[in-house]
Amino acid sequence: MLLCQITDLHVTRPGALACGRVDTAQALRRAIAAINRWTPRPDAVIATGDLIDTPHSSEYKVLRECLADLDIPLYLVVGNHDHREGLRQAFPEHVYLRTGQAFVQYRVDLGPLTVLALDTQDPPGAGGHLCEARLTWLDTELRACEGRPTIVAMHHPPFDTGIEFMDGYGLSAQARAGFARVISRHSHIERVICGHLHRSIHAGVEGAPGIMASTCVSTAHQITLGLVPGAPGSVTLEPPGFAMHLWQPGAGVRTHLAYVGPFDGPYTFEGESVAPAPGAPSDIPDRHIDMP
Ligand SMILES: [Fe+2]
Ligand SMILES: [Fe+2]
Repeated sequence: MLLCQITDLHVTRPGALACGRVDTAQALRRAIAAINRWTPRPDAVIATGDLIDTPHSSEYKVLRECLADLDIPLYLVVGNHDHREGLRQAFPEHVYLRTGQAFVQYRVDLGPLTVLALDTQDPPGAGGHLCEARLTWLDTELRACEGRPTIVAMHHPPFDTGIEFMDGYGLSAQARAGFARVISRHSHIERVICGHLHRSIHAGVEGAPGIMASTCVSTAHQITLGLVPGAPGSVTLEPPGFAMHLWQPGAGVRTHLAYVGPFDGPYTFEGESVAPAPGAPSDIPDRHIDMP
């Protein structure tokens, strides 16, 4: 079972650039082209929030146009830049977006693997939250899929990163405590996968020993790795990419980070050029983000 994760697409309205510099729709189209070429074909793609940038309804229109190119089943998660009802209206055929009633929360079974998507949005702020209603839903769903390997997907990660600027917009302390309390009751959680950080970070879930959580690079711009306390936040055009979560019986989830290229290579260990494996990052043409 291969689950591809894209995150923090931040699609803008036509003619606008995210952070004044990044054509995020173009970046998303390149990521989708790379995923469509991937071998083996992912069983599903999950987009872990911040699908658009401001939010504005015209951005969801552009997002929909971009995602139409994806020929793999797609699941959408909300982030702090999203608008629940705007998303539902833009993707009416994604009926699972409405099953969580007030929140965009749902369960998806991918063969033997279950994915539970959580809604950590807490408007109007950029930080995240999980109220008792959302945590109760999580506990109920985890009980219902007991014994099945399960991935929990949510936008805000349940850990501090050390990037102080972003930790200021993290999941609330109350939500982290509640999340740890709920998932500690269940032994079938393989991984917690998140977005929001625009970087690849791995950490244990605070308060839930043995459960690993990770964030993923954005399909567009990245957050600067600023580990100096008090460092101001900024973005960088480090390579965009996506994650491939490979689950196999007996082995669990292994997470591979793939960058959207092209890159030199591949070469033999003697330095000779060899044909790239189908879908390998170096097989992907034309990695370029337009700058003004
Ligand atoms: Fe984001
Ligand atoms: Fe975010």
